[in-house]
Amino acid sequence: MGILSSAVLIALGVFLTVANAEYTGTDCNPTDSNSSCSADPALGTEHTWLFNSTLDSKLWDMQTGSIDYTSEGADFSIKTENASTLLVSNFYIFFGVMEAHVKMAKGAGIISSVILQSDDLDEIDWEWVGYNTSGVQSDFFGKGNTTTSDRGGNHAVSNADTEFHNYTSYWDKDRLEWWIDGDLVRTVNYSEPLTVYGKNYPQTPCQVKVSNWPVGIKGQSVGNLEWGGGYVNWTDVPFTMTVSKIRVQDFHSGKEYKYTGHTGSYESIEVIRYVQSNNGTSSPRFWKSLLMIVLSSGNSTAQAEITKKPAKTLSQKWNDLSEGAHIGVYVGAAVVGALAVGALTWFCIKQRRNGRLQRALDDGSYNAELSTLEQTKLRWRQSELGRRDYQPVQN
Ligand SMILES: *[C@@H]1O[C@H](CO)[C@@H](O)[C@H](O)[C@H]1NC(C)=O
Ligand SMILES: *[C@@H]1O[C@H](CO)[C@@H](O)[C@H](O)[C@H]1NC(C)=O
Ligand SMILES: *[C@@H]1O[C@H](CO)[C@@H](O)[C@H](O)[C@H]1NC(C)=O
Ligand SMILES: *[C@@H]1O[C@H](CO)[C@@H](O)[C@H](O)[C@H]1NC(C)=O
Ligand SMILES: *[C@@H]1O[C@H](CO)[C@@H](O)[C@H](O)[C@H]1NC(C)=O
Ligand SMILES: *[C@@H]1O[C@H](CO)[C@@H](O)[C@H](O)[C@H]1NC(C)=O
Ligand SMILES: *[C@@H]1O[C@H](CO)[C@@H](O)[C@H](O)[C@H]1NC(C)=O
Ligand SMILES: *[C@@H]1O[C@H](CO)[C@@H](O)[C@H](O)[C@H]1NC(C)=O
Ligand SMILES: *[C@@H]1O[C@H](CO)[C@@H](O)[C@H](O)[C@H]1NC(C)=O
Ligand SMILES: *[C@@H]1O[C@H](CO)[C@@H](O)[C@H](O)[C@H]1NC(C)=O
Repeated sequence: MGILSSAVLIALGVFLTVANAEYTGTDCNPTDSNSSCSADPALGTEHTWLFNSTLDSKLWDMQTGSIDYTSEGADFSIKTENASTLLVSNFYIFFGVMEAHVKMAKGAGIISSVILQSDDLDEIDWEWVGYNTSGVQSDFFGKGNTTTSDRGGNHAVSNADTEFHNYTSYWDKDRLEWWIDGDLVRTVNYSEPLTVYGKNYPQTPCQVKVSNWPVGIKGQSVGNLEWGGGYVNWTDVPFTMTVSKIRVQDFHSGKEYKYTGHTGSYESIEVIRYVQSNNGTSSPRFWKSLLMIVLSSGNSTAQAEITKKPAKTLSQKWNDLSEGAHIGVYVGAAVVGALAVGALTWFCIKQRRNGRLQRALDDGSYNAELSTLEQTKLRWRQSELGRRDYQPVQN
């Protein structure tokens, strides 16, 4: 290998690192008036993840707790008092299908959930409350609006704790559907009173979030306790939810999804494909995009990760490229070298930001450790059910 191509590989290494850093999500709400959030990495394809072997950590982030893998799936277990679990996809879908095969966790005060949620708090839910093993709840939210609490649905399922069932959400710009074992159990149209005629219809790119967590703990509101079926009996640990597989289909095939403006409407979402620069070759973005195209044949980063051959070295990747691609990369190399310094600076800033977030999470007490997902839900339930009288549920 010549000196020039070695230099190219070093430069490529820098850019690959930068690209992966983008997978670390932010807590930036794009509908906040002054926000300037980075684009969401797209799934851009369809894939089924079997949860009986270790998930690719580039695609899935275990943010709270840990998973135990068995031959039938991933166990999300609450093993000690107040523990919880949260798995979040690093990729987003912009309309699509999410099919989860789940056994809920049984036990008063325990919530199993598989949801789609966007950066501006659009949400499409499956939730199992642990005291009722014969049902599942469907729900949705638009931009975190919790003014009313009339969107939830209750659906019968037999032995939801001991049998896997197929819980599928279908989501496009016209309608939302919840399917159980091949039966359509609920439809919500884009424009109807429940969605405030579209305004509160979920319509922005969503991550997949899987969580098993306790709501039945001291200090919760009466409404939250009632929803969860009373206090958790901690002598009954572990409380285990099992996921055998999840299929996710993205209806767009973009590389990234970017909010333009702060409305949170689907029309404001820009599907970024590849070179996004009208500044020509003077823009770092142009060269980064060009290199990513060459390296991934135009697939989304998630798609490239899914289809990658195990542990290819950079030099193998280089050898796999066509002659034309080699020439393209040579031409770009000089510019890349010059831009590497800038890219490193950007990467360092980004890492610093991520580091702050991580520290904030690590520092917290139990309540602070509740994920934003859980905290948001509790606020919602609180406003939703707070005024009712609490009647302990008999198991
Ligand atoms: C947004 O920016 C404007 C003008 O800089 C400022 O007056 C306002 O307080 C900011 N709003 C928020 C929520 O930060
Ligand atoms: C995971 O499940 C699939 C499908 O049920 C099965 O073919 C495969 O052998 C399982 N893998 C492990 C490691 O148990
Ligand atoms: C469990 O949920 C199902 C479906 O919503 C419902 O029919 C049933 O009455 C519920 N059982 C209890 C104990 O709440
Ligand atoms: C929030 O929901 C309520 C009730 O559905 C609705 O009246 C209101 O307009 C919504 N607010 C926003 C900002 O969409
Ligand atoms: C799960 O249900 C969805 C919706 O009915 C269906 O499209 C899919 O094929 C089902 N999956 C399996 C494995 O049967
Ligand atoms: C949703 O739209 C379909 C037609 O596209 C209609 O048949 C159905 O009644 C609508 N549902 C609701 C809840 O408005
Ligand atoms: C669990 O959380 C509750 C409510 O915050 C608290 O009162 C209790 O002491 C916690 N238990 C443990 C073992 O941390
Ligand atoms: C908690 O569970 C244990 C064992 O299942 C039982 O003996 C005990 O009575 C339960 N405690 C409460 C408060 O229900
Ligand atoms: C690139 O182009 C955009 C829009 O045309 C412009 O806003 C931006 O300032 C340009 N950036 C550079 C570095 O020239
Ligand atoms: C891009 O995606 C296609 C279809 O999923 C796959 O066959 C191909 O191997 C991928 N290419 C790379 C370089 O990942």
